[in-house]
Amino acid sequence: MNAIPQAGASPDAPRTIQPAWVRIAHWLNAVAVVLMMLSGWRIYDASPVFPGLTIPTGITLGGWLGGALQWHFAAMWLLFFNALFYLAMNLVTGRMRSKFFPLSPRAILHDLGEALKGHLSHADPSRYNAVQRFAYLFVMLDIAVLIVSGLAIWKSVQFPVLRELMGGYDSARVVHFCAMALLAGFIVVHLAMVALVPRSLLTMIRGR
Ligand code: HEM
Repeated sequence: MNAIPQAGASPDAPRTIQPAWVRIAHWLNAVAVVLMMLSGWRIYDASPVFPGLTIPTGITLGGWLGGALQWHFAAMWLLFFNALFYLAMNLVTGRMRSKFFPLSPRAILHDLGEALKGHLSHADPSRYNAVQRFAYLFVMLDIAVLIVSGLAIWKSVQFPVLRELMGGYDSARVVHFCAMALLAGFIVVHLAMVALVPRSLLTMIRGR
């Protein structure tokens, strides 16, 4: 919801760029994602999908397989219900359409080119450029794939169709791992972009 000046509000009152519900959902999501990723790495190490690829224990969470599973299962509810809330609010308020669309491959390539030349304007912090739109929609979809592939691994007997859609139990683990790796890549780029435009961090903390 981009702030529309309210009746009676002072014309130069600061505009809300990120409504409170977006900020709350964003930070809860960041906590859940970090907990799930660190504990997931410990679970992975107990039985690596890719022989020879293990994650250094020092950067994992949970201490041992049982502990990591408890962290993973606890954080998954936060990730799931928070994602549901964020998605529902974005759809109900119309923010999904106004903030992330329209979007086209041409616009993404154009804005990417401008960004690489250092010409992309950040003058209007209430608008996402096409690359941001694409990146944020991509990560939403990626988290959905993580949740669905996670469900296929967790309840593979109860959800045989889901498991087979993923190509079987072992492929579901590969899908889950690849989606995690893409999410990790997003986080690295996301943090670099925030560091380049620190003003955006303020809007994600105090709303304007
Ligand atoms: C760890 C997983 C994270 C994910 C999956 C994630 C995802 C997202 C998404 C989808 C948005 C767009 C939200 C919307 O407008 O509805 C966003 C915005 C933003 N995120 Fe994150 N985020 C993560 C972590 C972080 C962290 C750790 C920081 C800061 C250190 C951060 C800073 C921001 C900022 C400042 C914005 C607004 C950017 C802008 O105005 O362009 N995010 N993030």
